[in-house]
Amino acid sequence: MQSLVLSVSAFYLPVDRIAEEVEALDRAGVDLFHVDLMDGGFVGNLGMSMQDLDAIRRHTKRPIDVHMMVNDPARYIGLAAEHGADILYVHAEADRHPAATLAAIRALGCKSGLAVNPGTSFAQVEELLPLCDYVLLMTVNPGFAGQSYLDFVEPKIKRFAAGQARWGYTVMIDGGVTPAVIPRLAKQGVRGFICGNRVLLEQQAPYDRIVPRIRAAAEGKAVSV
Ligand code: DX5
Ligand code: ZN
Repeated sequence: MQSLVLSVSAFYLPVDRIAEEVEALDRAGVDLFHVDLMDGGFVGNLGMSMQDLDAIRRHTKRPIDVHMMVNDPARYIGLAAEHGADILYVHAEADRHPAATLAAIRALGCKSGLAVNPGTSFAQVEELLPLCDYVLLMTVNPGFAGQSYLDFVEPKIKRFAAGQARWGYTVMIDGGVTPAVIPRLAKQGVRGFICGNRVLLEQQAPYDRIVPRIRAAAEGKAVSV
């Protein structure tokens, strides 16, 4: 099995302890830090900023993946790259020219990612797949942290997971991910997960215990997470 990509939803990290939290997660072995940019237009919430990106960048060398829940994301990809983003996910639903934006992300030297809403089908975005290094499949409607995982998305997840070898992208799952979801989807070939409320906060254990247990469970070892 290829190694699992675990990305931490930075939305939950307390601003007054950002250094300690980022460093503890880094030591625990997470792979990425996930920054949710929200513009109050594409989604009904405001959230995170270039200042948050800077703060995380100062305390880790690990890649940062930025989820752009904003209208016309092409306006901000250069700015996010300047502030240290490594992977940029844009929503095709928010962009009139997603093919151009994905190519522009690669031209900036970043990895390109396509974020796909629960109600957007495989067929609606299939032509974009050769342009994607990552596909971020939403398992909540975007805009709010702490929502419940939408399992009706799973047949579509299987389709995207099956396409990873052909198109060379990595599937990431975002929204309401639980410790039980990770091993189940990993078995179906999903490579990456955004870890938020249920994976990291509700476990009541230090990060350096949670992260190795999640990886072991995804590899099919019998551990309780
Ligand atoms: C939803 C965001 C997610 C979310 C993850 O709009 O894109 O990244 O914050 O957190 P949980 O796992 O709590 O849904
Ligand atoms: Zn996200």
